[in-house]
Amino acid sequence: MAFETILVEIEEGIATITLNRRDVLNALNSQVFTELAEAAENLAVDDSVRAVIITGGDKVFAAGADIKQMALLGAVDVAIGLRPSKIAFERLENMPKPVIAAINGYALGGGCELTLAADVRVAADNAQFGLPEIKLGILPGGGGTQRLPRLIGAGKAKELIFTGDLINAEEALRVGLVNKVVPADQVLAEAKKMAKKFVSRGSVALSLAKACINEGQRMDLEMGLEYEHKCFSLLFATEDQKEGMKAFVEKRKPNFQGK
Ligand code: HXC
Repeated sequence: MAFETILVEIEEGIATITLNRRDVLNALNSQVFTELAEAAENLAVDDSVRAVIITGGDKVFAAGADIKQMALLGAVDVAIGLRPSKIAFERLENMPKPVIAAINGYALGGGCELTLAADVRVAADNAQFGLPEIKLGILPGGGGTQRLPRLIGAGKAKELIFTGDLINAEEALRVGLVNKVVPADQVLAEAKKMAKKFVSRGSVALSLAKACINEGQRMDLEMGLEYEHKCFSLLFATEDQKEGMKAFVEKRKPNFQGK
């Protein structure tokens, strides 16, 4: 996949998307969003890809949407021109395979919101998170007002969004914004380790578990439990379920085929 503002590499079933605007701290302009949306669409249906990692490289994740570009936009330009950001984030969030954000340095504004669209977040000990949009006279428009409170609770999310203050990796771990903090030079390796573990599991079961969690957040508990029960039942039609349980009985590791 050839893009200008992102790089996409696929190795051993794991696709790594790297944001590639280093000179502006990976500021996300409309081209990045359009390319991310296209990459996510392609990776979602690429059978050779079983997990996706998104990173900004070893210095910075992303300092947010491109302020110099946004400064020139009117309301209609934003409604139309920045819509790919919503599409990109939703495609990453909903793709039927795990998405891991590997975060070094700043993850601010739209950069932080991009990490929220991932399933799990691995952060460097030097990472810094924040939604500073309020300081620009706007609000977090890349899902921050919706995904952040669902992840860490409304109280802490409101504090971060109303102040625009940054938090470090340790605090991000404490409030549940990230899953894991590791030394800065081990972030990508740790994300790959996690991706490999996900890939070793039954991919149909994993994708349905992801769907249950994501769809469940749009339902009340009763409907969510019903949805879960249907997905659970469906898995008994897969070879992976037969193999997983047979392997347990035979005291060996399962060899899942993803069907
Ligand atoms: C455009 C940016 C940028 C951004 C940094 N740069 N962030 N350009 N948009 N969001 C550019 C700078 O202009 C500069 O380019 C170069 O990157 C290096 O940045 P510096 O500021 O010189 O670096 P430093 O002093 O280390 O400060 C780092 C920083 C600061 C604290 C991250 O850059 C910063 O506050 N950036 C803005 C963060 C922010 O407000 N993000 C939210 C954006 S709104 P030049 O050419 O001058 O050297 C948003 C809405 C999301 O994200 C909506 C979703 C659709």
